[in-house]
Amino acid sequence: MSSSVTRRHWLKSGAALATGVAFGTPSFRTFARDAAGRRQLLARQYEARLFADAPPLKARLFANENPFGPSEKAKKAITDSLKDCHQYPFMAMRQLVSLIAKTEGVKEENILLGAGSSELLLAAALHYSLSSRGGSILSADPSYTWLMEAAGGLGAGWDKVPLDKDYAHDLDAMEKRVSDKTSLVYLCNPNNPTGTIVSPGRLKSFCEAVSRKKPVFVDEAYIDYTDDPARHSVVDCVRKGQNVMVARTFSKLHAFAGLRVGYLVAQPAAIKELEKYCSGGWDTSSPSMAGAMASLQDAGFRDYARVKNAESKAFLCKTLKDEGYEYVPSHANFVLFPLKMNGKKFTEEMMKRGVGVRYWEFNNAQWCRVSMGTPEQMGYFAEAFRQLS
Ligand SMILES: Cc1ncc(COP(=O)(O)O)c(C=O)c1O
Repeated sequence: MSSSVTRRHWLKSGAALATGVAFGTPSFRTFARDAAGRRQLLARQYEARLFADAPPLKARLFANENPFGPSEKAKKAITDSLKDCHQYPFMAMRQLVSLIAKTEGVKEENILLGAGSSELLLAAALHYSLSSRGGSILSADPSYTWLMEAAGGLGAGWDKVPLDKDYAHDLDAMEKRVSDKTSLVYLCNPNNPTGTIVSPGRLKSFCEAVSRKKPVFVDEAYIDYTDDPARHSVVDCVRKGQNVMVARTFSKLHAFAGLRVGYLVAQPAAIKELEKYCSGGWDTSSPSMAGAMASLQDAGFRDYARVKNAESKAFLCKTLKDEGYEYVPSHANFVLFPLKMNGKKFTEEMMKRGVGVRYWEFNNAQWCRVSMGTPEQMGYFAEAFRQLS
């Protein structure tokens, strides 16, 4: 077992936590003090409430999950690993870190595991709001809000830069907006909720320039759905030594949303800061990690999942077009389109028809975001949508 992994995870173990305040490190004390606030933040999350309260649905198209489920190889690995699940997951953590490092072409000290990437986004929110009091997180708007909302709950500001006319990140405007007050730059690519991507070349030059001044956090939750994930990913910026953090998750294309596995690729110094605020893999399980390893090595499954996603997306886009609706071309497993009625009313009416979707309000318009479902689920969407459109 690598010494960093061993140390990291024994520190996160019950014994260390029980005496943690005695360690007396400022971050640990702050973390303990802010623990109540953290719980409140999580409880306040809109999605958590919405999803928990959802009635039984014919089509659950509000959470950007992969409705086709995990790879058969992943399921087998999960089942096989159950025989060892009485043991703590040291070995699984070590093996998964090693495989991810190899896959990403980085060292093991560049990897931090999480119980989903949410845990890693939260760790970044905690670190960058507590270490630079009075600072702000800079991000596009609209984008995925988890990190900024968590940071806001801890007193950080949120510096929002509108998307460009094509609903993609306006990297020039974001670069200009970086200031002394910026504690972290957050960027989601492909962006949630718009599904747009930015040119890989421009994104890499943005990361190179901005990371000289401030840390850049790129959330690549949906990168596996793009035509060429390796080309679009900015892990290369980490390899080159830039102060860039890349969050990845198994929840989307790998269909592991309920299994909770994510990871961060970053400089070892950044990992050391962030691991103070998260479990580093300890809060996920050995079956989940065994499944993640199998899925990571199953390229055939990833191709299959991309094809199924593209089929559902083509059906949805045709349905929208036939009904006279525009939509934002998407590189992810969801599509955003402008509504012709109130978003809240629309989602309620869809919910009554057994179809769960989400709505947004921005640019003085109401928008609906539909996640890709199975062909049958997309059929239910189309049927309900035609009744309302
Ligand atoms: C952009 C983005 N990042 C991160 C997450 C969190 O995913 P998880 O915690 O399941 O890895 C989501 C979930 O929807 C997301 O949309």
